[in-house]
Amino acid sequence: MEIVVDDLQAFNDFAVEFAHKLRAGDVVLLTGDLGAGKTTFVKAAAAALGYDGLVTSPTFTLLNEYSGKIPIYHFDMYRLKSSAEAIESGLDEILRSGEGVCFVEWPQKVAGILPEKNIMIDISVHGDNSRKLKIVE
Ligand SMILES: Nc1ncnc2c1ncn2[C@@H]1O[C@H](COP(=O)(O)OP(=O)(O)OP(=O)(O)O)[C@@H](O)[C@H]1O
Ligand SMILES: [Mg+2]
Repeated sequence: MEIVVDDLQAFNDFAVEFAHKLRAGDVVLLTGDLGAGKTTFVKAAAAALGYDGLVTSPTFTLLNEYSGKIPIYHFDMYRLKSSAEAIESGLDEILRSGEGVCFVEWPQKVAGILPEKNIMIDISVHGDNSRKLKIVE
């Protein structure tokens, strides 16, 4: 499906609605250019999943964990240097543990490790504050 949202509020509303349907074991892959809104999406989704703390891009650590109603794993592979580093971050294990919801920014960097069953969300800038979301489940 494809949806265009006009502003940040509508974007966040969509992310919240989407997150309410997520279950433990779900893997959400977020693609889109720098500044498209991947981390913003995770922020709204994590709040919808019951996490009330700070969500920041795990750029240097590759992984942030948040405790909501279920565990939330937030990966960002942008600065990944090797697939060994991805494995060390726990990606492979966590993606397949079925324990919580996983969000992965820049999944292209770890294409070989991703499970076949996933939800892909591609975000593109569609105007200053407007965004187009393409979702493939
Ligand atoms: N409709 C919108 N939806 C999402 N973000 C928006 C929207 N309008 C404006 N923005 C702004 O765009 C920026 C998106 O930044 P964000 O960090 O989420 O991008 P990102 O895709 O995670 O980038 P990176 O690849 O660097 O991690 C934020 O500053 C956000 O406030
Ligand atoms: Mg980001």
